[in-house]
Formats: sequence, C-alpha cells, structure tokens
Amino acid sequence: MEATPLSTSPTTQETCNCESVCFVGSEATLPADVALDCQVEKIYYGDFLAVRDSYVPIHKNQITGFIGPSGCGKSTVLKSINRMNDLIRGFRFEGKVHFHGMDIYDKSVDPVSVRRNIGMVFQQPNPFALSIYENVAFGLRLNRFKGDMDEQVEKALRGAAIWDEVKNKLKNNGLSLSGGQQQRLCIARAIATEPRVLLMDEPCSALDPIATRQIEELMIQLKEKYTVAIVTHNMQQAVRVADQTAFFAVDISSGGRTGYLVEMAPTKELFENPQQKLTKEYLHGDFS
Ligand SMILES: Nc1ncnc2c1ncn2[C@@H]1O[C@H](COP(=O)(O)OP(=O)(O)O)[C@@H](O)[C@H]1O
Ligand SMILES: [Mg+2]
Repeated sequence: MEATPLSTSPTTQETCNCESVCFVGSEATLPADVALDCQVEKIYYGDFLAVRDSYVPIHKNQITGFIGPSGCGKSTVLKSINRMNDLIRGFRFEGKVHFHGMDIYDKSVDPVSVRRNIGMVFQQPNPFALSIYENVAFGLRLNRFKGDMDEQVEKALRGAAIWDEVKNKLKNNGLSLSGGQQQRLCIARAIATEPRVLLMDEPCSALDPIATRQIEELMIQLKEKYTVAIVTHNMQQAVRVADQTAFFAVDISSGGRTGYLVEMAPTKELFENPQQKLTKEYLHGDFS
C-alpha cells in the first residue's frame, strides 16, 4: 500500500512506513468522546476461555481504569487493545477494537502500526540496558524518525516529568535510575513516538508510595494530550486518577474461570452508586 502521511505527528514522521493500513482520517464510526471502542466477545488462550462479553469504550483524553480481582482478565483485555497478545501462542481474539475508523484486528492492519499508535507501559519498569538518551531514541530510530532527535528526546523526557532529573546524565545507563525514574523513563520511551493512546498495566505496583504519587500526577498531565487506560489492583488509585472505571469479575458458574465486564461508569458514579450487586460487594471488600 502506498505510504500515507501521519496526520497528527508531523514532527515524528514525514511518512508512514506501515506495510499495510495506517490509522489516519475518519473517526466517524465512533461517538465524538470515544477514542477507541474495545468490544470483546471472547478471548481464548488455547482452549481456555479467559474473557467474554466485555465492551469497553475508552474515552478520549480521559483515564479509564480497569479494576477487579486477580485473574479476571484486566491485563488480557488491556493487551488486546494494542494486539500485544498476538505474540502469545494460542491467543485468540473474537470481537472488534474500533480505532480511527477501523477494526485493529482487520486482516489488512499491520500490528506494528497499531502499537505505534497505541503505546504500552508495563508493571515492572523495563528500560533497555542502554543510555537514558538511547532508551527514548529507540522507538524513534525504529520508526526512521527524520526530525531533530535531541529535541524529540528532550520533549519526551519533559512529557514524562523526568527531564530535570536526567538532563545532566543522558549518557548514563537507564538501569542506573531508581524504580520510579525507570518507570517515567519507560513512559518517555512510550510517548516519544507520539502515540494517541497509552496503556498502562499496573504501572505503580512495583513502586514506593512517593514514586506512585509522581506517576499518578504524571498520568493526570498525560491525559491532556493522550488517551490513557490503566489496570490497577488498587481501588484508591482508580478513585484518584480514573475518570471512567470498568469493573471486571470472574465467572465460575460453568466450571471455568472466565473474566467479564460487570459494569463500567464514570468513576464517581461507579464507586458511589454501583448498579450491580457484584460491584457493590467488591467495593465493600466482600471478596478480592
Ligand atoms: N499467556 C497466558 N496463557 C494462558 N493463560 C493465561 C495467559 N495469560 C493470562 N492467562 C489466564 O487468563 C486469565 C486472565 O488473566 P489476566 O488477564 O492476567 O488477569 P488479571 O490481569 O485480571 O489478573 C487468568 O485465568 C490467567 O491465568
Ligand atoms: Mg494483570
């Protein structure tokens, strides 16, 4: 397919190198406030039905929090949003993820271009064993960035609220930083290529309370520019940062352990006036 200009990140790339489809143009199929509409029918790992019936609209320039007991499929659904699970043997997704007028699971869509537009940050900070500078430049080089590399690296580090702490030691190894700094470096790496959506899977669970607060404040800044979805096992974190909250649970009724979305609502509404009995019980601490 002919290369298509990327409309929103002219500084990042003059042209798109996707082999197939690029996410440009119409978002007409989605409501104006929805950046991405995740419609899970079934997700399998081999024969195991891990998640069913979970329709999760991810709202534009907001933070959507996924909460629920361990094993209810929060990470599975989150990773399905940028096709990260494609790399797992036996993984099968049935449903659709609408993004920029397309289904990202459509055969014509290049998963690499999906991940460029929908970035991801993991639970354990995972900088590469490279300099701080090269950690951030990594994705830019991969995408054959042709602009001013120093400028773009600085912009990403500033965007991840870590520039002042590292500006005099950009050549130091990324692994020499503290856990909280490493996580912000990973966020800088994820935003360097200017994705539209940022997914974070329990980004604070390996961090101390001070570093956690810094990341939470950063998430709130990031949503001005990006659409953010986070998995958190910490309900208070969802209350502090999430605009929308999706509550998942595990269905054991038919002998399996299948996760599903119980309900989703603006965070205040979900916590103050849950519609489902199961949500009430979970928020009340009746099970975890
Ligand atoms: N790579 C995998 N292979 C097989 N089963 C998996 C894999 N990853 C997760 N699962 C299973 O899928 C279900 C949902 O897991 P996960 O999405 O990690 O839940 P959560 O993030 O809510 O704790 C669990 O039963 C888990 O054991
Ligand atoms: Mg998880």
